Amino acid sequence: MAQSALACVAPDQENPELDAFRADVIEGLSSSPKALSPKYFYDEAGSRLFDLICRLPEYYPTRSELEILTARAGEISAFAGPHASLVEFGSGSSVKVRLLLDALERPAAYVPIDISGPHMRAAVARLAADYPDVAMTPVEADFTRPLHLPALEGGRRLGFFPGSTIGNFSPEAAGSFLAHAGEVLGPDSALVVGFDLPKDRAVLEAAYDDRQGVTAAFNLNLLARMNRELGADFDPAAFGHRAFFNAEASRIEMHLESRRSQVVRVCGQRFPFAAGETIHTENSHKYAVPVFLDMAQAAGWHERAVWTDSRGWFAVAMLERR
Ligand code: TRP
Repeated sequence: MAQSALACVAPDQENPELDAFRADVIEGLSSSPKALSPKYFYDEAGSRLFDLICRLPEYYPTRSELEILTARAGEISAFAGPHASLVEFGSGSSVKVRLLLDALERPAAYVPIDISGPHMRAAVARLAADYPDVAMTPVEADFTRPLHLPALEGGRRLGFFPGSTIGNFSPEAAGSFLAHAGEVLGPDSALVVGFDLPKDRAVLEAAYDDRQGVTAAFNLNLLARMNRELGADFDPAAFGHRAFFNAEASRIEMHLESRRSQVVRVCGQRFPFAAGETIHTENSHKYAVPVFLDMAQAAGWHERAVWTDSRGWFAVAMLERR
């Protein structure tokens, strides 16, 4: 309780992340419709639940993307050349990157960037043991914000942005992110980015609302996090997980739906919910290949290759900056 009570009294110079979380929550719950940024999913519990999502039978994107990367690692390596530095945006558990590290010719460095510091450092420690010759320089940061890369020497900079995380931005923000990544990586760099393709609604919706309820637990964990870190009084049993495909916007939407009319308190402020009212917690946009490539082009990237998996459900683009 001490920490959560303190979280509300005054800006905490020691903990700017907590200040930002509080300000974003109060703003998000004050707006209409209510919304929260998906980056707050990834506390310790959320990062662990996310790894479980990736192994669910319904969650095809991870397996589809691994199929593509396994088949194309040689082509990616040939394009990257020797001594490449690999920069991963939102590295999570750093599992997929092993495929690239195995295929690259004497990679010089791996620079994972992730908002969840402890989770990332544990992942990097495991990786370092298996790749002793690769310099590991983790950066704990929100990868959408301006950031400084450690000095990197040698070969090409190869950006890696898997998992259709790009789909979690609005299309405008996705375009800005691609331009920002181009600036961070610099001239002559490459970017390997995974994105999910539009497909049958039932397949899409099952992937974000699995039978075991892991995705529901992941979504509801946001309420537990607000209770723990901000002293909010959400009753998680009074909210339900809702995920559906919005065809017009070509995106899966995730919401937390209030099961009844209720008032929640966060830092002394009251937030009323009508029965059925939702907090919009995430979007996952599905891009057709030409739509994605137009966006990449507008952000200064050129198509080198686009690959899909055997079912045509997921795509990986290799882009280059000249
Ligand atoms: N970016 C991936 C996607 O949109 C993974 C992901 C992010 C996700 N948040 C999620 C998957 C929430 C399930 C639920 O598919």
